[in-house]
Amino acid sequence: MSGFLRTGKRRTTQAGVTLLPSGRTVWVSSGSSLLEAALAAGEEIAHPCGGRALCGACHVIVREGCRSLSKVRKAELERLARLDGKKSLSRLACQAVLGSHSVTVQLIKQ
Ligand code: FES
Repeated sequence: MSGFLRTGKRRTTQAGVTLLPSGRTVWVSSGSSLLEAALAAGEEIAHPCGGRALCGACHVIVREGCRSLSKVRKAELERLARLDGKKSLSRLACQAVLGSHSVTVQLIKQ
């Protein structure tokens, strides 16, 4: 749970991200994107647009913990609508931001 210490300094909450198919889990700060988590885990995940929801190359499917992720915004929704293989739990890793609970995501090889 996030919050402030008595000193007034903000505590950093960490959340676990498990990446399939490798099964690697990485712990990152809440507020990080799934793309940042995947890169921190050493996974190969394409992101040619630099995380601006323009290319769709960072498409992932959330297997567990979707409620811990930020809501889908308009730019992501529009890009997802044009992707082949889109599922109801599809997200763009560059746009999905972690909350305080762990998630499991399936990486989609492009
Ligand atoms: S990196 Fe291009 S849409 Fe996510």
